[in-house]
Amino acid sequence: MHTSFAGKKIVLGVTGSIAAFKVAGWVSALAKDEARVRVIMTQAATRFVTPLTFAALSGEKVVSDMFADDEGPEISHIELGKDADIILIAPATAHTIARMAHGLADDLLSATVLAARARIIVCPAMNGQMYAHPATQANTARLRELNYQVIEPACGMMACKDEGQGRLPEWEQVREILLRHLSAGDLQGQRILITAGPTREPLDPARFISNRSSGKMGYAMARAAYRRGAEVTLISGPTALPCPEGVRRVSIQTAEEMRTAVLAHFSEATIVLKSAAVADFRPETRYADKVKKDQAELSLGLIANPDILQELGRKKTGQLLVGFAAESGHLLQEGKKKLQKKNLDLIAVNNINQENTGFEVDTNQITLIDRQNVIELPLASKERTADLILDHVITLL
Ligand SMILES: Cc1cc2nc3c(=O)[nH]c(=O)nc-3n(C[C@H](O)[C@H](O)[C@H](O)COP(=O)(O)O)c2cc1C
Repeated sequence: MHTSFAGKKIVLGVTGSIAAFKVAGWVSALAKDEARVRVIMTQAATRFVTPLTFAALSGEKVVSDMFADDEGPEISHIELGKDADIILIAPATAHTIARMAHGLADDLLSATVLAARARIIVCPAMNGQMYAHPATQANTARLRELNYQVIEPACGMMACKDEGQGRLPEWEQVREILLRHLSAGDLQGQRILITAGPTREPLDPARFISNRSSGKMGYAMARAAYRRGAEVTLISGPTALPCPEGVRRVSIQTAEEMRTAVLAHFSEATIVLKSAAVADFRPETRYADKVKKDQAELSLGLIANPDILQELGRKKTGQLLVGFAAESGHLLQEGKKKLQKKNLDLIAVNNINQENTGFEVDTNQITLIDRQNVIELPLASKERTADLILDHVITLL
């Protein structure tokens, strides 16, 4: 099941913060993702960005006056919230937050919020002192009690040149939170442990043995699992990828560290997806000082790392265990062999000799093998592939 914005109705409340211009970009992104966005602006917000900007980007009329006489027979503040999937208030000023915390309804946005049945998500944006003020803190706490989701503002330099916590969060973060609310939540209640990326096996303080894994497939699964309602722990080797929203990341370097971290989280997991490319071997000797190049030759002795997947297969007590295998030939044969040998419930095999699949690229083509079935997934983005793998995992639960 692919979570998306297509056809979803999002009411966006824009208030009088200097950050109002930033959400013009959000409306544009939502419109591209085929969401239907209705913008409500407070009077103060219209002093920062014109309603025309939001109307042009959303393709919908922008409203801000509760008593406008050209609105027709329906009552705007009731109608707007009625069939919304989400009401997003961004940026939310200290003033609007105070209004909502006290249940005031003296403008179109606050009245719509009171009348709505939809999930309400609030993105405060203000000067750090304003945000830290006990009044604002009490008001945001009250909103949480009312079951509104308040997204913590980011830290950094603000428009007023002060440093502090009060910046509007980035769209990528808010997008993930919206998608989680819009998803079917079919992984709610599941605790998913995902491993991703390569490991690094040090030779000396400057050098290591590693592999081409970028972590993209595992990170895509972590994002998809979070969106679908799961609690996600991601154990990651070194990658350049940012930690996905809502995901608890544990960073490791070596296969031994990976093993320790995986075993520490294994018992609490209900599903384990082991997509990391753990190095099979490590240098026999780890030199304390950098190996100098003035020696005639250097031989590297390698010793085998522990097979973590096989160990989990032996230890599992009800967890659904999914392995990943990068193969360069005899895919089915190798996959079936590993499924049996490592006591897995499912294995995802990809052909690393094929173009556009496997390491580093953004697409993948996976064959899923479980105890009964062999399923060829189509060549697709890693994001889409992640959802297809999770779809199949759900059928095995
Ligand atoms: C240049 C300027 C920037 C402002 N930026 C913010 C802001 O980022 N956050 C905030 O809470 N208030 C900010 N304010 C103050 C609000 O605009 C003011 O409290 C207003 O009454 C908010 O009304 P509203 O919540 O109905 O939109 C700013 C005011 C000015 C003049």
